[in-house]
Amino acid sequence: GDPRLIDTYGRVATDLRVSLTDKCSLRCGYCMPPEGLDWMPTEQVLTDDELIRLITLAVDDLGVDEVRFTGGEPLLRRGLERIIEATAQLKTAAGRAPVTALTTNGVGLDKRAARLKSAGLARINVSLDTLDPERFHEITRRDRHADVLAGLEAAAAAGLGPIKINTVLLPGVNDDEAVPLVRWAVSHGYELRFIEQMPLDAQGAWERGSMVTADDIQKALATEFDLVPTDPRARGASPAQTWRVRHGDHEGTVGIIASVTRPFCGDCDRTRLTADGQIRNCLFARDETDLRALLRSGADDAKIADLWRAAMWGKAAGHGINDTSFIQPDRPMSAIGG
Ligand code: GTP
Ligand code: 5AD
Ligand code: SF4
Repeated sequence: GDPRLIDTYGRVATDLRVSLTDKCSLRCGYCMPPEGLDWMPTEQVLTDDELIRLITLAVDDLGVDEVRFTGGEPLLRRGLERIIEATAQLKTAAGRAPVTALTTNGVGLDKRAARLKSAGLARINVSLDTLDPERFHEITRRDRHADVLAGLEAAAAAGLGPIKINTVLLPGVNDDEAVPLVRWAVSHGYELRFIEQMPLDAQGAWERGSMVTADDIQKALATEFDLVPTDPRARGASPAQTWRVRHGDHEGTVGIIASVTRPFCGDCDRTRLTADGQIRNCLFARDETDLRALLRSGADDAKIADLWRAAMWGKAAGHGINDTSFIQPDRPMSAIGG
């Protein structure tokens, strides 16, 4: 049969998102409480070698051609460079190296960017919700705004581009910054994407009514920019809807990831591996498939591949956030990988 990761709706997962740790150097209020969470016990976290084995299997046998590393905060994982290096050396079914990417909060990136580049990392997405250092402290409960900006500069200098910025707008906190953030991003050559807040926080405090929607953001941007839609056929499985904008002499791209109000699950191409070795076929999946137990029982690649395919086959049509029966997943975003 087809060796790829297919589901009953005909979607094919070619984009593997690997969470390397559930720990984080920040404490964004929409993600974690100030005291942090009960982190995964070390012995349950996959080792570098175990991770590399599973990533190799995904690329060699399951048709994966893009591997994104997330967290928590992936820069907290000591073996990150080694894992990237091993991934970048693999060959996809088409005979190319898989695309490697990193989603990070940027803290400590200034000292790692050059090494990540030489390890073979292709692209980087950095989270930044505000241009104001005090607000940054308010949102993340850490005083690291300057570190993130330094990290971005180092990433650009190292050639880790094109760089994308992920921004969550919060009512009454930073929702007046849509326009300034885009001006800043366009003039620096970054592609900024606004993300609608999703019910994935550890505290279970998400409320539909206190979410800045794609419509709100588009309206705010339209007061300042002429938003020229990009070709929808070029979007593929990307979660972001994008527009071309102009600011002064610069032209750039801005995006909105409207998971809640404009769901894109029908085009999803993702499969997820948590730091403790569980396959999730969706961010919002109700259950997980335990690859770690199988791996540690000494199973061969064929057995693991079969279980991974089975895990994806049952993927739901959509996240169901807008259904009255919606139940938030047991694990928060930081333990799933965003
Ligand atoms: P590229 O567009 O390829 O750069 O990657 P990306 O946007 O998928 O990666 P990134 O990790 O930067 O993700 C940005 C945000 O998109 C995440 O934090 C999530 O909020 C959202 N996102 C990513 N994957 C999914 C998904 O499968 N479903 C939903 N609903 N949202 C997702
Ligand atoms: N909803 C939407 N985005 C979130 N992020 C973290 N938690 C949430 C949530 N509940 C964002 C981070 C980061 C990206 C990877 O995910 O701000 O930019
Ligand atoms: Fe960390 Fe990202 Fe959560 Fe912020 S949103 S606390 S950066 S995992």
